[in-house]
Amino acid sequence: MNNYNKSPSKSSTNASSMHTSSLATDLLVAKNIHKTYPQGSGRLHIIKGIDLTIKSNEALSIVGSSGAGKSTLIHILGTLDNPDEGQVLYKGKNLFQMNDEEMASFRNNSLGFVFQFHHLLSEFTAIENVLLPARIGDKDNLKSREKAEKLLVTVGLQDRMNHFPSQLSGGELQRVAIARALINDPEILFADEPTGNLDSHNAARIQDLFFELIKSLKITLVVVTHDLSFAQKFPRTLRMQDGRWVIGDKQNLIV
Ligand SMILES: Nc1ncnc2c1ncn2[C@@H]1O[C@H](COP(=O)(O)OP(=O)(O)OP(=O)(O)O)[C@@H](O)[C@H]1O
Ligand SMILES: [Mg+2]
Repeated sequence: MNNYNKSPSKSSTNASSMHTSSLATDLLVAKNIHKTYPQGSGRLHIIKGIDLTIKSNEALSIVGSSGAGKSTLIHILGTLDNPDEGQVLYKGKNLFQMNDEEMASFRNNSLGFVFQFHHLLSEFTAIENVLLPARIGDKDNLKSREKAEKLLVTVGLQDRMNHFPSQLSGGELQRVAIARALINDPEILFADEPTGNLDSHNAARIQDLFFELIKSLKITLVVVTHDLSFAQKFPRTLRMQDGRWVIGDKQNLIV
């Protein structure tokens, strides 16, 4: 099992200011994010003023009880949902001031997503699924295919490239989803409970794969997980509770 870049000096969770290296640049900065959803005649306040600074090449885990707002937050950070209030800056650029086309292009080129359920398209093979974001992004066909093959080799699926999702195991499906998330060389990879649907053996393999990938690809990784042992392998872990950060030491995570 990997223990990615763990260092005692990198503990603690002041969400807005802590980072893995003082030399690293701010990649994604969220300021005072609020999110509400309609409920009856009123609104349910889900995200209650979240601040977060993510540095380039940082690896961050987010934990918290069910309903705390973790998925809502990473959807907002990944422009899959809008905040009611607050800003998300990517390299200083306010993401929610982009028009729909700019945002879609930004998402396609700069962000990768892995969810608890793989969301692969059943009528496409593994390699075709991996290639979809490249096709959407109008990338060179031949180069993308080579890259997709390479990524599928990296995730250990060299013998499964032409299998359809129905012919793959749960762990294999998730590895295809990871390869798909990486095809356009994202700068940030968001993963929302990527091992939540897997048995412990496959979960461990996927976890190891994430740490290998962030080392080899030098991407920034944000993982939401209920698995505390996985969360604690990250240099920085934040806990969410009722739409806010719980500020405390990393050791507080042992519950
Ligand atoms: N589209 C929506 N409309 C109304 N309420 C919503 C919507 N999406 C999420 N919520 C509510 O917001 C709260 C936070 O949801 P969210 O999915 O962010 O939680 P979570 O921390 O990811 O939980 P889990 O660990 O179970 O995945 C929940 O109470 C949920 O019911
Ligand atoms: Mg969730």
